[in-house]
Amino acid sequence: MIKILKNLEEVDLEAARILAKQLILKPNSAVALPTGLTPLKMYEAFANFARSKIVELKDVHFFNLDEYIGLTKSDSSSYAYYMRANLFSKIAKVDHRIPKTNTLDPEKEALDYEKAIRSAGGFDLCFLGIGVDGHIGFNEPGTSFSSVTHVANLHSSTIERNTKQIGKSIPRKAITVGIKTIMNSRRIVLMAVGIEKAKVISQALLDDITPELPASVLQLHPNLTILLDEESAQKINSSANEFHLINP
Ligand code: GLP
Repeated sequence: MIKILKNLEEVDLEAARILAKQLILKPNSAVALPTGLTPLKMYEAFANFARSKIVELKDVHFFNLDEYIGLTKSDSSSYAYYMRANLFSKIAKVDHRIPKTNTLDPEKEALDYEKAIRSAGGFDLCFLGIGVDGHIGFNEPGTSFSSVTHVANLHSSTIERNTKQIGKSIPRKAITVGIKTIMNSRRIVLMAVGIEKAKVISQALLDDITPELPASVLQLHPNLTILLDEESAQKINSSANEFHLINP
């Protein structure tokens, strides 16, 4: 199902509502969380839901999708720092995991992380952003669709964009949840906003499924919700009628 909403605020509010509903129906859900600019307002809205007791969080299992290798959680470029600043400092203590990448053995951490996801029963709900090169999590173009949590080399375009976003240099490697792990989620919500995502959204949803565009694998997921603002939906609007996923 595709929902085209007016702007980033509406996309993020809808995502926060989906998360709240999930936790009302299944309080002990395992939920995968993305980072980046797109979900910032989702976390703001969700923290408000939690504070006003719309949702209880004592049984939930949150997992982040990825983390840069070599950063401590107090480094302001790390996703651990991002999550604390934007969500976890605003709500009561919850069960939350993010790959621990300040380690000499990131491969082992990737294995352990995958095991922890499995022990939690896999993701009930997985929120995803999308990179302009089609990456999901940090699964860059060329990543096998059968990948589980692993160490990933970031593409130069990702490094360039994320460096610009953060305003300082970032590591060249990350640990990311794999594509198979993502595809095993019982429900996936893909979020995109802004004109810079229009091309990749149209490629991911309308073009051939290929590892060269990791997000295209989502066409095969049986329970996919896509939340777009008007700008990121610009190139699929005209093809809406031929698009099998769009809501009639
Ligand atoms: C980063 C993250 C992804 C995120 C993507 C999009 O590289 N690893 O998980 O989805 O960028 O970020 P933004 O929302 O800022 O466009």
